[in-house]
Amino acid sequence: MKKFAVHPLFSFVHKSYIVLLSFVLLSFVLLFTACTPNKPQYRIGVSQCLDDAWREKMNYEMGRELLLHPEMTLTRRIAYGSNELQCAQIDSFIAERVDLLIVSPNEAEEVKPAVTRAYRAGIPVIVADRRVTGDEWTAFIGGDNYRVGALMAQWIESLQSQSSKPLHVLEVAGLPGSTPATLRHKGMMESMAEHGGVQPVVQSVQGAWYKETAYKAVSEFLRTHEDVDVIVAQNDLMAIGASEAVHANKAYASKHVPIMGVDGIQLGLQAIVDGTITCTATYASRGDMVIATAADILHNEPFVRDTVLETTLIDASLAYPMLRQDEAITRDLETLHIIQVQTARQWRQVQIDRIFLISGIVLLFLLFLLAISYIIFAQRRMQNEISKEIIPQLEDVQSAIQLSQRDMLFAERLKQVVDEHLSDPELTVESLANMLLLSRTQVFRRVKSVTGKGPLDYIREQRLIRAEQLLRTTDMTVQQVALELCFSSPGYFSKCYKEYFGHLPSKVSR
Ligand code: FRU
Repeated sequence: MKKFAVHPLFSFVHKSYIVLLSFVLLSFVLLFTACTPNKPQYRIGVSQCLDDAWREKMNYEMGRELLLHPEMTLTRRIAYGSNELQCAQIDSFIAERVDLLIVSPNEAEEVKPAVTRAYRAGIPVIVADRRVTGDEWTAFIGGDNYRVGALMAQWIESLQSQSSKPLHVLEVAGLPGSTPATLRHKGMMESMAEHGGVQPVVQSVQGAWYKETAYKAVSEFLRTHEDVDVIVAQNDLMAIGASEAVHANKAYASKHVPIMGVDGIQLGLQAIVDGTITCTATYASRGDMVIATAADILHNEPFVRDTVLETTLIDASLAYPMLRQDEAITRDLETLHIIQVQTARQWRQVQIDRIFLISGIVLLFLLFLLAISYIIFAQRRMQNEISKEIIPQLEDVQSAIQLSQRDMLFAERLKQVVDEHLSDPELTVESLANMLLLSRTQVFRRVKSVTGKGPLDYIREQRLIRAEQLLRTTDMTVQQVALELCFSSPGYFSKCYKEYFGHLPSKVSR
């Protein structure tokens, strides 16, 4: 089979390109890994019991704080007020091995088993807003619900102080198994009892934290009770529902029923400004603090285990400025969000620019390597050319020198042999060949090459040169010289002499 030899140039360039290609690939791998900023390393599961406006605020605060922690990602699941669904969602977070769990439990006792399972599975658990029973959780952040109840009591007392007969108070309660509902009720009842004096009559209906449920429950209650003086609802949504129920009842058409809510979120403040409800107690959501605590736990930083947030009463005098302030904060936050989006965009642009810059550098480097490989290649080609063309020429010169040295030696030897036998009539081509240890043909070829003449012409020339010497330096006559140097006759000698020297031989007087 015929073998195709790879041209050395091809294999050299080929190898260089493999090296270059690997270099470029490596650079790009490094480039792209370096360009991925702070990859998320922590997965956080958030289990929310509800999805109302208060929780939207909490989620928003969490999202904002999360921008400061690109190492964390959130997965949020909402239980829509169902304990079973919330437990199942927490169990799925456990199965997914999230790095941290944030739970706002629907009802303390019912959701506790799932929270305990997560905690025992080694997942740090932050309980937010509503508590779970027991203490198998990592941190708690939530409002002071007992104090909220105490604020309700204070407000009722301020109204009671204007009346001599005990006021009829209707409490619209949240879900009974949730800690804010029980603690707010407890705080209210205990504070009222502590105060002494005329004690209002308190009755409760179940609003389950929803406006619609509260509307229904209050409407039903008012149908049979036309003497309700005050309503305290455990959140703003239920307070608005209760207000609608009061306004829908004809028996209350001419009666003003003051209503208090809880939360102090925008819709509650607006309801105070609109005169729908009378006042509210703030109940901070602090989703930002929840995320900051999560970051501390995940980074093994110190953190506060039990954080109870303060509350305060907002009446008509405070609601309007607070609402404006809240709107301003919302606008600021929106601006902040725009800035964050722009910063993220600019960051992406910086990344793209960086990619281009590094690609440029890589490309330059590539060109540099290409130039170097071209120089190396050109060098090699030159070397090849030198070895292919100049070396043979040098060898030719060398052998020519060697040859001429041999010729010179031969010329010397030839002259010596011929000179010694100029007077020998037996000096022929054969005898010369014998003396020079060569064949006849070699003698012809080599004498011709060193003298430019045939051997006989050379011998005759040497005899004529010797004749001239003899005539000049001795007393010998022309005839004697012709005889001495084996010319067949003096006449033939004279003819040859004239041909060679241009004049006839003659005796020069000394
Ligand atoms: C929101 C909410 C708030 C209330 C809190 C109690 O879901 O009902 O209105 O203050 O939960 O946990």
